[in-house]
Amino acid sequence: MENLYIESPFSPGRPVSPDLFVGRDKEFESILRYLSQCAGGRNENFFIRGPRGIGKSSFTDYVAKFASREFSFTCLHVYLSGVTTPEEMAYTIFKQMLEQIDDKNLFERAKIFFSDYISGISAFGFGVQFTSNRKKLSFLWQNWASVLHSFWEKVLKPDNKGLLLILDDINGLARNAQFASMLKSANDTIASRWWKEFPFFLILSGFPERWWEMVKTNESVGRIFKVINMKRLSNDEVSSFFKSAFKMHGIKAEKEPMELMVNYSYGLPASMHEIGDAVFLVNSDDIISIDDAVKGLKNAARNIGTRYIEHKIFRTLNSSRYRSILEKLPQIGPSFSSSEVRELLSKNEYKVFQNFLRRARELGIILLGDKKGEYNFSDPMTWLYLRFFAEKKIKFN
Ligand SMILES: Nc1ncnc2c1ncn2[C@@H]1O[C@H](COP(=O)(O)OP(=O)(O)O)[C@@H](O)[C@H]1O
Ligand SMILES: [Mg+2]
Repeated sequence: MENLYIESPFSPGRPVSPDLFVGRDKEFESILRYLSQCAGGRNENFFIRGPRGIGKSSFTDYVAKFASREFSFTCLHVYLSGVTTPEEMAYTIFKQMLEQIDDKNLFERAKIFFSDYISGISAFGFGVQFTSNRKKLSFLWQNWASVLHSFWEKVLKPDNKGLLLILDDINGLARNAQFASMLKSANDTIASRWWKEFPFFLILSGFPERWWEMVKTNESVGRIFKVINMKRLSNDEVSSFFKSAFKMHGIKAEKEPMELMVNYSYGLPASMHEIGDAVFLVNSDDIISIDDAVKGLKNAARNIGTRYIEHKIFRTLNSSRYRSILEKLPQIGPSFSSSEVRELLSKNEYKVFQNFLRRARELGIILLGDKKGEYNFSDPMTWLYLRFFAEKKIKFN
C-alpha cells in the first residue's frame, strides 16, 4: 500500500518544524549576539535576504522559537506578501499580531489597547476584525514607533523581556518610499528616545532584488539593517535532513538513492521537501530503494515544474524558436557549453541563442557557469523538469 494515508514528515510549502530544521549555524550565530544585546534594551534590525524557497521563513521561525524560549521575548511572525501600501501594512500587522497572541491575559490587555481599532472578535484569538478605516490605519503607521512602544509598555512588558517582530515577505513594500522612511525614523526614535528601555528586535525578509530596491528608495535605511544572505544548504545537511525525516517513520534510505535525492536537492530546502515528500509517497516499505527514489524524483520534478518553473517558461517561450531551443538544450545535460549548443541548434535557432540566453538568465532558469562559455540550468530539478518537457512527457499548454 502506498503511503497515501500516513502523514508525511515533509512539509513542502510550509516553514519546517523545529525538530527537522537543519543547518544555518552561522546565520544563527550572527543573529544570536544581537538578540542577547537586545534583551538588554538595544534595538536591532535584520534583513533576511534570499530567493523563494531558500528557507527565510523557516529560519526566522526558528530564531523566534529560540528568542521566546531563551530570552522570554514575545515573538510575532507577520506575513506581508501582497501588501503594497503602509495602510494595508498597518492593518495586516496589527490584525495578525492580535490573532497570534496565545496568552489570555496578554490578549485581554491587547484588546483594551486596540479597542478603538477592533471592530469585532468572534472568540479569543480568532476572527479578529480590525478596522479598515484609512484614517485610523494611517495614524498607526505614521506613529509606528510610538504605537509599538506604548504597546510594549502597556501590553507586553509585564510578562516579557522583549519584542521580536518578523515582517515576512516585504517584497511588495520595498519600493514604497513611505515604508522605507517609516523604518528609518522609527529606528532613530527608538534608539534615541527609549535607549535601554525598549528591547525591540525587527526582522524583515524578502528577495535580494527587493532589498536593493528598498535601499535605492531610501539610502539611509540600508545602514540600519544587518543583512543575512540565505544560501543553499550543504549536501551533508541535506543528507542528515533526509535521514531524520525518514527515520520518524522507521524508514531508511540505501546509499545510492540517498545520493540521488541529495544531489537533486542541490541544497535547496524547497526541492528537498518536494523530493522527500514524493519519494515518501511512492515508497511502500521501510527501505527507500533506487526505484522509489527515481519514481519520486520524477513526480517531484513535475510538482516543482508546475509550481515554480512553468510560468517562467511561458514567459520565455513567446517565440517558437525560443521554445525549440528550450526543448533541445536539456539533452546536453544540467550544464552545457557554447560549442555544444552550436552543434545542437539549427542555424536559425543559433542566431537568436544569445537573446534567448539573456531572457532565460533574467528569469533565473539558466545561470552562467564558472568558465567563460559555460552555462548551467539554475538547479537539477529545473533541468529534470525541462527534460520531461522536451521529451513531451509533460503536456505543455
Ligand atoms: N533549515 C531548514 N531545514 C529543513 N527544512 C527547511 C529549512 N529551511 C526551509 N525548509 C523547508 O524548505 C521549504 C522552503 O522554506 P521557507 O522557509 O518557506 O522558504 P522561504 O521563506 O525563503 O520562501 C519549506 O518547505 C520548509 O519547510
Ligand atoms: Mg517565506
